[in-house]
Amino acid sequence: MNQKKEVGEKAVEYVKDGMVVGLGTGSTVFFTISKLGELVKQGLSIKGIPTSIQTEQLANQLGIPLVSFTEINQIDIAIDGADEVSADLDLIKGGGGALLREKIIAKAAKTFIVVADSHKLVNKLGSFPLPVEVVPFGVEMTTKYILELGGAPKLRQKNGSPYLTDNGNYILDCHIQPIIHPEELERDLNMIPGIVDNGLFVGMADYIITMNEDKEIDIKI
Ligand code: A5P
Repeated sequence: MNQKKEVGEKAVEYVKDGMVVGLGTGSTVFFTISKLGELVKQGLSIKGIPTSIQTEQLANQLGIPLVSFTEINQIDIAIDGADEVSADLDLIKGGGGALLREKIIAKAAKTFIVVADSHKLVNKLGSFPLPVEVVPFGVEMTTKYILELGGAPKLRQKNGSPYLTDNGNYILDCHIQPIIHPEELERDLNMIPGIVDNGLFVGMADYIITMNEDKEIDIKI
């Protein structure tokens, strides 16, 4: 059984005709978006707003009509994956580098649904290194300040060069384990000059669609 496919496809049940839908990024929400593409071909009328260039391209291939924030100011529902989901339903996101647009879209959505296979469920966040999006200028200083805060930042690389986000920024993957006070950490990190945002999504998820030990769909609210 493909857990990512099962939980990803389950999320489309929340999407209704006429909705503006935030389309997340990653290998789990890929199945949500693919299913939405099928439903659009069968007549479902929705507009998508993508969280990354990768998702924009996927939605275009599938024929899902897209909008941007110049045309809308509220999103009915956003569906996205996560790298970790805590017992308090807080998240680490950004493993795919799209955390900034993902957070903007999740915040703008009336309902934010997370699709995550059971391997993503943890008691406390922090085993997965926290992605932090930083502007390239002064990254050395930003790194130093994160170190002072107790994190161990590592500049994400791709093909031997720093990885660039869709916004032209770098990602510092920060080992800060365990994360006891995610809300505080989210705020403290974002006070550091040079940090654009970080992958902590605290108190944002309305529903987590996952699987239980019996391999049945489990919806956490
Ligand atoms: C993208 O930047 C991330 O936030 C993804 O949503 C997250 O990494 C989950 O991806 P997978 O569904 O591929 O595990």
